[in-house]
Amino acid sequence: MPSRRDFLASTALSATAIALMPLSACSQETTPAANPTSTPLAATAETPFSGTLIERAIPVSGERIPVIGMGTSGSFEVGDSAAERDPLREVLKRFVAAGATVIDTAPTYGTAEDVLGALVSEASVRSKLFLATKLSGVSGRDEGLAQFDESLRRLKTDKVELLQVHNLRDTETQLALARELKQQGKVKYVGLTHYVESAQAELADAMRKLKPDFVQINYSPVSRGAEQRIFPLAKDLGIAVMINRAFEDGKLFAQVKGKPVPDWAKEVGADSWAQLFLKFVISQPEVTVVIPATSKPKNQTDNLKAGVGNLMGERQRSALISALA
Ligand SMILES: NC(=O)c1ccc[n+]([C@@H]2O[C@H](COP(=O)([O-])OP(=O)(O)OC[C@H]3O[C@@H](n4cnc5c(N)ncnc54)[C@H](OP(=O)(O)O)[C@@H]3O)[C@@H](O)[C@H]2O)c1
Repeated sequence: MPSRRDFLASTALSATAIALMPLSACSQETTPAANPTSTPLAATAETPFSGTLIERAIPVSGERIPVIGMGTSGSFEVGDSAAERDPLREVLKRFVAAGATVIDTAPTYGTAEDVLGALVSEASVRSKLFLATKLSGVSGRDEGLAQFDESLRRLKTDKVELLQVHNLRDTETQLALARELKQQGKVKYVGLTHYVESAQAELADAMRKLKPDFVQINYSPVSRGAEQRIFPLAKDLGIAVMINRAFEDGKLFAQVKGKPVPDWAKEVGADSWAQLFLKFVISQPEVTVVIPATSKPKNQTDNLKAGVGNLMGERQRSALISALA
């Protein structure tokens, strides 16, 4: 039986060919005439972000947040040298300048909370941000509370917009603590997170039982499990959805390395694979915000551009899935 790797290698050419076909060949709908030449990635010059980010409402409150946020796992886990901090300073600057607000972190992401707290404070942008952190790997109320107090200190703030129970650990006790902190005004919304499809059944049970304000889960063109349970349930229960690992921790870029962006990308105003991957995620109406992580200003601008213009319809979604099959 061929391995997944063998299968990928043998189908890569045909899948790419399908992705590069005009979309009219993939469906009955009419498609604008395609330019016969594709856009090579290398030739895509960096242009600044412009426009207004699409917003989505948080069901429990109606508060609207921009659909592109950012993560900090890995990317913000750096030391204090200028060489490490300067690019992140610019990553944050471009994020705020574009009107984006949602930043996800965790006390267990190495130095990320410290670095984020320092850069936010230095740029005096705390009031413009929606900070999300987690109760992570702790057991019992006292441990959770001590960790939260430490998160506030590291983030240089006296409240966070979202406090999430990380990876369904000690879920009921930690969510009860998060709700207690919400009552005290130190937390605006409470949530549950996971990052793998094998945990989605358990996450769905917890959503039904505990009805958090937010749920955070993985979703991408190659990991579509959330469509089965999580999205319909979030819609029914009125729970906001935050998406992590939209780039499969960067692995999606290896799959398209050297391949031109398909011509149909123009139909959704995208000129990079990153924008296509993110547009795929936010084209799901149940998705409230996606949190791609980057350490590079150029990639931050790229990611932000996914949050403006047309979203994908079924034809474009299918073509992108085929390109990665
Ligand atoms: N709740 C949980 O258990 C959990 C688990 C995983 C993640 N998360 C959250 O979700 C966030 C995102 O997930 P993730 O960090 O695993 O990975 P991700 O966002 O899927 O991918 C990040 C990778 O993509 C690269 N990248 C970003 N933008 C790019 C662009 N425009 N072009 C090319 N490459 C680009 C980054 O490299 P560069 O730095 O070079 O741009 C990095 O290697 C995390 O940071 C974290 O906040 C939560």
